[in-house]
Amino acid sequence: MTTSTASGKIILFGEHAVVYGRPAIAAPVSQVRATATVTDGPAGKGCILFAQDIDEEIRPTQAAADHPLALVLRLALDAAGVQAEPDWRVALTSGIPIASGLGSGAAISTALVRAVLTHANQPALPETVSHLVYRSEELFHGTPSGIDNTVIAYERPVWFVKGRPPETFAVGRSFTLAIADSGIASPTKETVGDVRRAWQADPAASESIFHRIADIVHGARRAIADGNWAAIGLLMNANQQRLQELGVSSPPLEKLIEAAREAGALGAKLSGGGRGGNLIALVDGESAGAVQAALLAAGAKRVLLTQVGGAEKQI
Ligand code: MEV
Repeated sequence: MTTSTASGKIILFGEHAVVYGRPAIAAPVSQVRATATVTDGPAGKGCILFAQDIDEEIRPTQAAADHPLALVLRLALDAAGVQAEPDWRVALTSGIPIASGLGSGAAISTALVRAVLTHANQPALPETVSHLVYRSEELFHGTPSGIDNTVIAYERPVWFVKGRPPETFAVGRSFTLAIADSGIASPTKETVGDVRRAWQADPAASESIFHRIADIVHGARRAIADGNWAAIGLLMNANQQRLQELGVSSPPLEKLIEAAREAGALGAKLSGGGRGGNLIALVDGESAGAVQAALLAAGAKRVLLTQVGGAEKQI
């Protein structure tokens, strides 16, 4: 039996603009995870994928060509050099809320690829895993930048530009983010599609917003390296304003963001695809408790605290 897991993720700065070649900064969220377990089944039964949370059995050989999990399983078996269909049962389960901006789709696929490669005695190298998961992300998202599969496969904070190997970034002083779930499911594919339609209708207007987001992301890299929490917070607020202009915020997210700021957060913004899903708020030792309480009072379904920097491994 082989069990592999994969973390969730948050985008700190630069979501959406990253699809158009601008940089973004992301970090893993290790407290929420997806799990894949491969066991050898009875001979002659073939390979069965079992999505435990929705109680669905998928036969990869019979599934539609564009079924993301069946596709990722087939790709992983190919990459592992497994020729004939193995008699394996592959069970998947996840504690990451779907359509919430925490990378649930990429995390499930990452756990699956890792488990298949490991069960076939092949190394599950981050670059191999990331590349395979990207193929399934194309089905989940439409036109993904590749940031979700990268940050989850490497499970390290990354500075990411589409098409380039991920880089690490310096963290002068570790900082804490409250991650609040609005409880509103919002598939990334939809917001990414809406941003694309707006870009097609008026490329200059969208490009000008992406350009300003890129400036914010570069500023954030410097502020993070300097350990300047006040500057990081202000840049989060500035990024949120640009995301509003892109049309991917929403009144419920705005309400939660406002509640976090009023309770003492140094800055707050949506994270990931937007409209619903999760937001992040920068907190310190003094404000963490008050911000958490304010977010829950304003309707957040749950609030996690995560640290960026400090003990984390660097690329
Ligand atoms: C989703 O986590 C981040 C987006 O920028 C989409 C992408 O980069 O593929 C919204």
